[in-house]
Amino acid sequence: MYINDHPLLESEFLEEITFFYEGKQLIAKSGQTVAAALMGNGIKVFGVSRKLQQPRGVFCANGRCCSCFVTIDGLDHTLSCMTRIEEGMQVFFNGGDPVVGRGGSGI
Ligand code: FES
Repeated sequence: MYINDHPLLESEFLEEITFFYEGKQLIAKSGQTVAAALMGNGIKVFGVSRKLQQPRGVFCANGRCCSCFVTIDGLDHTLSCMTRIEEGMQVFFNGGDPVVGRGGSGI
């Protein structure tokens, strides 16, 4: 759902772009954050919590709480509330901890 006629919205939000969430093509407005684009398409749960696997989505909407992590174009644990949506962007649900390793050093 979008507000298309608002006195404070500027024209930068009027151009429609396409992006993908879990492989499904969706429509967003240019200038939106990824979080806003997802919510505009009715998606409110972006991932699950690390320990209890509880649903997570937008909480602070200003980059402070890390509740809105998603994977964007292969980059794991990206803040969706601080990232602008781009044409053709591939966004995925955050299903758990990032894949980290010790590399070959053995430390
Ligand atoms: S909603 Fe809090 S960091 Fe994105």
